[in-house]
Amino acid sequence: MATPRQKLGTKEPKASQTLSEAQIAVHWKEEQYYYPSKKFIAQANLKDPALVKKFSEKNFPACFDHYASALDWDKKWHKTLDTSNPPFWKWFVGGKLNACYNCVDRHLAKYKNKAAIIFVPEPEGETTTVITYQELYKRVNELAAVLGDFAGLKTGDRVTIHMPMIPELPITMLACARLGIVHSVVFGGFSGEACGLRAADSGSRVLIYADGYWRNGKWVDHKAAAEIAVKTAEKEGQRIDKVLVWQRYPGKYSSETPMVKERDHFINDVVKAYHGQTVQPVSQDAEAPLFLMYTSGTTGRPKGCQHRTGGYLAYVTGTAKYYQDIHPEDVYWCMADIGWITGHSYIVYGPLALAATSVLYEGVPQYPDVGRPWRIAERLDVNIFHTSPTAIRMLRKAGLDEPRKYNYHFKHMTTVGEPIEPEVWQWYYDVVGKGEAAIVDTWWQTETGGFLCTTKPALDPMKPGSAGPPALGIYPVIWDEEGREVKAGSNLAGNICIRNPWPGIMQTIWGDPQRFVSQYYKKYNKNAQSKDWRDWPYYAADGAMIAKDGYYRILGRVDDVINVAGHRLGTKEVESACLTIPEIAEAAVVPAVDEVKGRVPVVFISLKPGASAEETRAIQDKVTTAIETMIGKIARPKEIHMVPDMPKTRSGKIMRRVLAAIENHMDTGDITTLANPDVVEQIRVLVQGHEEGKLQEGPEDIKRFGQES
Ligand code: WTA
Repeated sequence: MATPRQKLGTKEPKASQTLSEAQIAVHWKEEQYYYPSKKFIAQANLKDPALVKKFSEKNFPACFDHYASALDWDKKWHKTLDTSNPPFWKWFVGGKLNACYNCVDRHLAKYKNKAAIIFVPEPEGETTTVITYQELYKRVNELAAVLGDFAGLKTGDRVTIHMPMIPELPITMLACARLGIVHSVVFGGFSGEACGLRAADSGSRVLIYADGYWRNGKWVDHKAAAEIAVKTAEKEGQRIDKVLVWQRYPGKYSSETPMVKERDHFINDVVKAYHGQTVQPVSQDAEAPLFLMYTSGTTGRPKGCQHRTGGYLAYVTGTAKYYQDIHPEDVYWCMADIGWITGHSYIVYGPLALAATSVLYEGVPQYPDVGRPWRIAERLDVNIFHTSPTAIRMLRKAGLDEPRKYNYHFKHMTTVGEPIEPEVWQWYYDVVGKGEAAIVDTWWQTETGGFLCTTKPALDPMKPGSAGPPALGIYPVIWDEEGREVKAGSNLAGNICIRNPWPGIMQTIWGDPQRFVSQYYKKYNKNAQSKDWRDWPYYAADGAMIAKDGYYRILGRVDDVINVAGHRLGTKEVESACLTIPEIAEAAVVPAVDEVKGRVPVVFISLKPGASAEETRAIQDKVTTAIETMIGKIARPKEIHMVPDMPKTRSGKIMRRVLAAIENHMDTGDITTLANPDVVEQIRVLVQGHEEGKLQEGPEDIKRFGQES
């Protein structure tokens, strides 16, 4: 194609095309293909085209038995998929298994002396800790005894875990899974308040914490968050009976927050009384919930995505094996945090079910310098690496040639969480991967359990910036707003949906099945009474397009979610935090393009009559504090603009789309129908200054931002 090189997210519509409102033209420069090496192909788990055929649509859903067969079952399922109550699918019906048994016990016979987890502390002077499968087995059993006996937790109870990246986090998750306790891990960087809200929503009466951890060279007193979490949960009507605290340095309490008598206990101490105890893994129904993972959506509070035991574990095991090419001999390092879905599926459950060695790094990649990840890779001989475009952009910016100084060799690398710009992909491939590693760009979501689009690393060529074809057994479609299919090679963008159920899809939203249906299935369902799964496509809320070769390119969220450094942030959550400040009348949060983090939140606020605008600085500080307290530092806005009024429709709806356009120097479109069109220019001057700069084309997600609300 003779188009000039385009930046990801810029468009070049065809002059000849006439488009309706619902059609969005995007014109990408097609990137060239890259092929995996012969050496990689020779050893790959997925190199047999016959297996790919097995997953063809006519073999759905039985094809997924292949994934389930990779697990050890106490009782085999009698039906692969029950679709009698759409969209509440049931996978591997009648089957019984235990997730912890599959990730730990079953490996003992062959691999007990092999490293399961290698923990790398952030301070470089501290030694790495190796936990073998045997030791993992012992530690998980002892902790399961504590959870059952000391904490009085039973199968089906929920527990909220607010912990940093230390080995006790996966140990705690696995101990829960052993007993069938539903864990809800809250990202360590979230605030105590965010944790408390999630604990209340899930009905957890036990919180599990760590006293503190290292991050970017600083000690974080994490137990302080527990106090706030307990108070918040109680305000919401959920009593917290026990706070169990892991000490980052066993035997020493490293937090300044006092332990509360009877309520708070050091797990390190309690576990001593359970030394050597073993606990039978509870044989769980395939449909028993394994965990909740809260994520941001279009409206209101974060929702608890509920994942099932059998289908989820089968799906992450199968996808980790085939797309990440994990063998038991591999040293696998995913730099994500376990507090996100990537960490659950592809640090803990997938890799451990495959008996891999999973590296766990406590800190930030650039500490004490940008060579750190490559030193870790060299030292541990990591051969499979997994990270996000934000981390790649950051490492590239700070150390263009740094990886070349280290003698490590990756056979495979994953990228996940955001669209990756072709030039960033190229650096990842050439410099981090040294031209040797096969890359998979995996598109998926908290809700989906595992990968939905990715190349098969030994079989499909890579194409920078494209997630690639659908994963085995996944049948996507792109529809425009009016439900017309967006065809391959049409240069149009639309909403990507998955036509069929798959084992990794969440079961429901915890406590809110209606919201599950309305958020993910209502949009393209034509008949709410239908019992046919074909009438229930999954709506992902991502914009996408498909090239002639069938490769999907993901353009970003089309709802009120901002993808900040690969982490989902609900704009409504940030707005609610702003509205807790008495002087603020209205708040609107929009995404701004950021060179490293992809997108960052920008806040617009207007004050109540009578509130003094002279206190701008003070109010801006209050906004930042409120956001950090209620959500966490990851939600800190890049800018806070105080505006005289919000641009509104005649019915009083805030036009966030207009604000996003101004913030990103894009065309605001038609504003004549607004109730207060004059305010648009005032805001523009406030944000951009008097001189009108050149308008940018801007990325698709920002163009479509606010469309849904
Ligand atoms: C985005 C993370 C482009 C997307 C696993 C999705 C991506 C959201 C990719 C889910 C990718 C994820 N290319 N965009 N390879 N992977 N996304 O729930 O917008 O934290 O909807 O799950 O991240 O984020 P979540």
